[in-house]
Amino acid sequence: MTLNLGFLCSHSGSNMEAIIKNVIENKLDANICVCISNNTDAFALTRAKQHNIPIYVINEKTYPNAVDNTIINTLKKHNANTIILAGYMKKLAKEVIDAFDCRVLNIHPALLPKYGGKGMYGMNIHKAVIDNGETITGATIHQVNNLYDDGRILAQKTIPILNNDTPQTIADKVLTIEHILYTETLIKIANNEIKFP
Ligand code: GRF
Repeated sequence: MTLNLGFLCSHSGSNMEAIIKNVIENKLDANICVCISNNTDAFALTRAKQHNIPIYVINEKTYPNAVDNTIINTLKKHNANTIILAGYMKKLAKEVIDAFDCRVLNIHPALLPKYGGKGMYGMNIHKAVIDNGETITGATIHQVNNLYDDGRILAQKTIPILNNDTPQTIADKVLTIEHILYTETLIKIANNEIKFP
């Protein structure tokens, strides 16, 4: 199956940008179909626009009581078959996940199942990792289910934690490996090395 990617982003969209770059450079065989954000000010929308990717703001203000259906319809309208959460800060409804046969992926800036769940986002994660004296951390790509950071783990990449690391230096290093890991994982999905039952 050709990967037709539909992105959901809330903020910067650097992971989306890294994937787009790899598609443009023919490192990943995929089509980028659409970028949806819940946040009008998301820089991800600017990035997508620069690449002529259709953009949509879908939230309770723009589509009162119709967010989930509108997300599904918009992704389907643009023929997305694989949904990529990249810094999407909203919980996705079960209907949306089911509408795409669970082909919905997320990236998390820690080694799940540790440091996941409600409240575990952004700097909170990296602070907790340091406070607990971890010696490694990293990033995880997982399938999305209706719980936070809970679905099947598809791929992980680790980095060592050094004595002089701060939450910010860890955040920067993890983001750098995220940009590599997402495309690597999508290549495995495209090659059927990672399968969706
Ligand atoms: C990443 O750290 C990702 O793991 C988390 O949100 C951040 C998104 O960054 N889910 P960006 O918007 O892709 O730059």
